[in-house]
Amino acid sequence: MLLAGQDAQAIAQCAQALRNGELVGIPTETVYGLAADAENDAAVAQIFAAKGRPIDHPLIVHVADAAAAQHFAAAVPAFAARLMQAFWPGPLTLILPRHPERAALAAAGQDSVGLRCPAHPVAQALLQACAAQTPPVLGLAAPSANRFGRLSPTTANHVQAELGSALRILDGGACAVGIESSIVDCTAEVPVGLRPGAVSWAQIETACGLRVRMPAELASHQAPRSSGSLASHYAPQAKLRLMDARALQTALDLLGGDAAHIAVYARTELHSRAAQLVRRRMPDDAAATAQQLFAVLREFDDQRVKLIWIETPPDAPDWLAVHDRLLRAAAD
Ligand code: TXA
Ligand code: MG
Repeated sequence: MLLAGQDAQAIAQCAQALRNGELVGIPTETVYGLAADAENDAAVAQIFAAKGRPIDHPLIVHVADAAAAQHFAAAVPAFAARLMQAFWPGPLTLILPRHPERAALAAAGQDSVGLRCPAHPVAQALLQACAAQTPPVLGLAAPSANRFGRLSPTTANHVQAELGSALRILDGGACAVGIESSIVDCTAEVPVGLRPGAVSWAQIETACGLRVRMPAELASHQAPRSSGSLASHYAPQAKLRLMDARALQTALDLLGGDAAHIAVYARTELHSRAAQLVRRRMPDDAAATAQQLFAVLREFDDQRVKLIWIETPPDAPDWLAVHDRLLRAAAD
């Protein structure tokens, strides 16, 4: 059932449901999450079951502020503290050494834990209401509220389509960022970039004064398991292909008037005689594209197209996160 996120009573009801071990769909500025009390293993187990997610893929724990992060982390290195200061609340997840007695199942038994403080006002209100209860709920384990391997939801209706109408879902509107948070592993002496997002590696470097390494650069880096790093992920039902504008135009020319079940998402203006061709224009700006990307792919699926042809994004740092999601959606 959908509940208005601005309604204080809805927030109170959801905080209580979470304390009672139930699941709630929540808006964040990145994508919607499927939340449970991070310290209630039975509740966390229900997240894995509802998503069909393998039990060895750790979940992100959402906290109200940096102080609450201390509850779950065994230690916060100085550069991680600087990143919290610079980007929390916001679309940045930090992997930190885990306090051995906290959130073991949410962290899939790993000795690290992913922590994020979301900026969305509804998520913030909920986290604060959770923390104010007795006993307090200090963290919400919340992966993206989609079935495993599918597109992340960016509206409350997407969540309902993924997980059914029995679930309580707080409606906080369409997500402003639209793709999942940047993830930085802070368990080594230097930051390691695990998943690109709206906070860029350059911004991370400026804020903490250290170069961001990639897992492949560090021979010793034990890449933690991360479902966001599986090759085939965030996939629409239709087959997705990336092409440059010239290849796209050639493909459309070859099709001529016959383009049933094909969708095109491109920045460049393309010509086609096919009346049934489904088209959406990709914005020129990376942030605007990220904001609508998953919703556009879902629309294409809803229109039952079989092929989605997408113009390859520009090879520029600000497009890295969008490019990453498109490559994963195209992998099979
Ligand atoms: O923007 C987001 O991060 C959204 C919203 C809901 O906050 N959440 C999200 O969660 O994308 P999920 O579970 O779909 O992706 C979380 C990623 C996964 O790839 C997971 O493996 C990784 O974070 N992760 C979580 N804890 C980890 C840990 N201890 N070590 C390494 N990776 C971890
Ligand atoms: Mg996900």
